Amino acid sequence: MEQKRIIIAIDGFSSTGKSTMAKTLARRIGYAYIDTGAMYRAVTLYCLDNGLADHDGNVNEEQLASQLGNISIDFRVNPADGRSETYLNGRCVEREIRDMRVSSAVSNVAKIAAVRRALVARQQEMGRGKGIVMDGRDIGTVVFPDAEMKVYVTASAETRARRRYDELVAKGNTAVTYDEVLHNVVERDRIDTTRAESPLRKADDAYTLDNSHMSIEQQDQWLLDLYHKITKQCNGQD
Ligand code: DC
Repeated sequence: MEQKRIIIAIDGFSSTGKSTMAKTLARRIGYAYIDTGAMYRAVTLYCLDNGLADHDGNVNEEQLASQLGNISIDFRVNPADGRSETYLNGRCVEREIRDMRVSSAVSNVAKIAAVRRALVARQQEMGRGKGIVMDGRDIGTVVFPDAEMKVYVTASAETRARRRYDELVAKGNTAVTYDEVLHNVVERDRIDTTRAESPLRKADDAYTLDNSHMSIEQQDQWLLDLYHKITKQCNGQD
């Protein structure tokens, strides 16, 4: 029997490893993967490069709203390693959008209503055919409130800062300190959970995954087991 394709929404704090686990799940079950954080990061990069934001993310909202139509974001698979990469107006920005310059400004861009409206509409379009794993902050609450599978990922701020710091160092970024990264994580949590527009919160019907003390293999298995359980229910096999 053909399995019904579903929408999988994975939300949670920054640096919980959401993207890595969402990507692995998508690959294992043959679904598309969309990193919505990358979309907010790409808009932020556009702002920084075009004089619409300073490095703290103070944005000229009016000017940005009038230029949103000029910002095209898409994902393309790199044939060399099979990974999905983010493109901004036809240019690969996958590396640049992960820099501290963008990380420090992105929360302020992501709280702008016009930006959220434009990106949410684009995300809903991407998920129309189902068979998609999408990660972000508001996927289970705003983008796809009817998603069949919702997961809310959490871990302590220190655990997350350590992960992000190790990641930056592994990529050759030696200028940054652990304390700066921790500060950035805590500050982003504050903005993401207290903003007026779609604040980060757990959807009532989401499953919580606290991965502070889990290995990557354990999380991947947890997610896959949940997927099997939910698709069985959706296919009326339970
Ligand atoms: O997941 P990330 O750290 O790459 O996300 C970057 C920023 O974008 C983060 O500050 C939260 C914001 N974001 C959001 O507001 N809504 C989403 N669906 C995804 C990310």
